[in-house]
Amino acid sequence: MKKGIFLLFLLCLFSTAAHAGLRVIGRGDNMRLDPSAFPPAMKANYEIMRVRCVKCHTLERTIVAIQTGVAPITGQLFDRSATRAYGIKMLRKPDSNMSKPEVKATVDLMNYLLDVAQH
Ligand code: HEC
Repeated sequence: MKKGIFLLFLLCLFSTAAHAGLRVIGRGDNMRLDPSAFPPAMKANYEIMRVRCVKCHTLERTIVAIQTGVAPITGQLFDRSATRAYGIKMLRKPDSNMSKPEVKATVDLMNYLLDVAQH
């Protein structure tokens, strides 16, 4: 019986997560995320991403990578093990105008978003 309740609990947990998903607003160049359900730390990280990660391209590139699990330009895998390398790659682009802590914040956010998007 106890096991049954536990399984039911697990089922609820997963179905809620699946239902939540990634909340995307707009399309194309206007694509962005709805951060209202993010925990406070991730809301702060999203503010950094919204300012820093749109200098050379829009947020669409980042959101599509998170949604599909594939980096849209190079076609490489985009999962939790890859986010840090992408962050560093962006930091090293000429005139990226980002600090290491800012990039770390966006990497943490991308990892969180990958969990939300369930990869
Ligand atoms: C200085 C310019 C610049 C900034 C700032 C920048 N990017 Fe990029 N980004 C690029 C370029 C150029 C590409 C094209 C693919 C490449 O060269 O890696 C790219 C590609 C990407 C891709 C697709 C990668 C692929 O392999 O397909 C993602 C995801 C991405 N950027 C996310 C971000 C995030 C997140 C940030 C903020 C932390 C950011 N970018 C900030 C220039 C920038």
